[in-house]
Amino acid sequence: MAKKSERHLTIVFGGTGDLMSRKLLPALGRLKNGELRDTEFHVLAVARDTGKDDDQYRQWAASALEDASVKLQDDSWLKQLYYHSITRERKADFDALREKIEEIEDEADLPGNRIIYLALPPAAMEPTIEGLGKAGLNKSGGWTRLVIEKPFGRDLNSANHLNQTVHRFFQENQIYRIDHYLGKETVQNLLVFRFANPVFESIWNRHNVQSVRITVAEDLGVGTRAGYYEKSGALRDMVQNHLTQLLCLTAMEAPVAFGADSIRDEKVKILRSILPIEVEKVVFGQYDRGKIGDQEVPGYREEKGVAHDSQTETFVSIPLEIANWRWHGVPFVLRTGKRLKERLTRIAVRFHCPPVSLFHPFTECQVSSNELIITIQPDEGFDLRFEVKTPGQEINTKTEGLRFRYSEAFVPLPEAYETLLLDVAIGDQTLFVRADEAEYSWRLYDPLLEAPRTLHRYEAGSWGPAEAGFFER
Ligand code: BG6
Repeated sequence: MAKKSERHLTIVFGGTGDLMSRKLLPALGRLKNGELRDTEFHVLAVARDTGKDDDQYRQWAASALEDASVKLQDDSWLKQLYYHSITRERKADFDALREKIEEIEDEADLPGNRIIYLALPPAAMEPTIEGLGKAGLNKSGGWTRLVIEKPFGRDLNSANHLNQTVHRFFQENQIYRIDHYLGKETVQNLLVFRFANPVFESIWNRHNVQSVRITVAEDLGVGTRAGYYEKSGALRDMVQNHLTQLLCLTAMEAPVAFGADSIRDEKVKILRSILPIEVEKVVFGQYDRGKIGDQEVPGYREEKGVAHDSQTETFVSIPLEIANWRWHGVPFVLRTGKRLKERLTRIAVRFHCPPVSLFHPFTECQVSSNELIITIQPDEGFDLRFEVKTPGQEINTKTEGLRFRYSEAFVPLPEAYETLLLDVAIGDQTLFVRADEAEYSWRLYDPLLEAPRTLHRYEAGSWGPAEAGFFER
């Protein structure tokens, strides 16, 4: 039976920020219309902006909902949104916040169940967690759950340090480290696809699989986020979290049960089995000006807020190997980049060629090996590619496919943040990153962060630097 959420208060740090207006508030509004229709939940936005009160915040929220095309079924929910400004991170500021929280809970007669969502820049995480802990906001009369937005640290050391700080005040079963890719329906479906369909599971190994390529291509550039991205780059921004999660779900063993810890145990085992990455085989790139469709776009170094000699990578391709019984010897490649030809997230599993080529004695098997393409976005679905005989007297083959598309089978998929916020509300940690997972993931990429590197150029609108090899669409 599905778990039910209890009445609660969600406190969002960064409550007037971009994430709140574009993702969190719209997701909360949709939940209020849908899954949480019968659950009373209030929202307290916390931010530095001193010029707002509850009413002004409600107006701000109403227009954010409108911009996101969310129409509330019951507008009176807006009355359950509140605002509190916190200008410094001193004990007195957190005490004042605690008073505001208690005031809301008293008035609404809430039982003290709290979600504290940190939608904050990396530098503000630790002081805020300490402030919360010292003000006694790590516990309450009900449950308290802490949600931490990505990035979780910027290298192994800082992630360890952040974990230690959180663990000084919160238990692991209170902590929800967000990776929004885990909230995507198609990413969750990887588990169903793999473990509900023995037909695929039985060939999911080195005996049958020739290679696995995981790609997250974006056509967008750095936009207005240069301040953050310049210090981050593709490796920190995308690979350490999103691509690594896709890799874990693709490669992990069957968990003993469909529960948070069983699944996360298996993901950690995969991370521990990955051989040290060979730095010289990693391709880093940065985009130059070019065209996306018909639109001319600037190069990365011409973007607002980017240094003219920036060494930040906007593309990375990483070959890696998993040294376990299932995958030994199978090459995996993780690739991601900004300003690529189109938006496309997919996992391509290529199977071995036939052992003897009866039909194409002189051609390379490469072109005709079977392939399973899992498209995470857009146009979510699967394609299984195989060879068929073209009609006629001669024996000629052609690659055709079996195809499944979510959009043809189901109503529109929920947004990742809707799924994740609902899971926090019902207390399900399955789709969140555990402390050891975050650390093992950083351990893999830490040696690449400071290693000497060549930054290859690529034109915006291409599939990345030529050095990363041919990109098969
Ligand atoms: C974010 C990154 O985590 O994911 C962004 O910080 C990136 O740089 C985004 O654009 C991609 O997410 P999605 O859901 O659009 O694939």
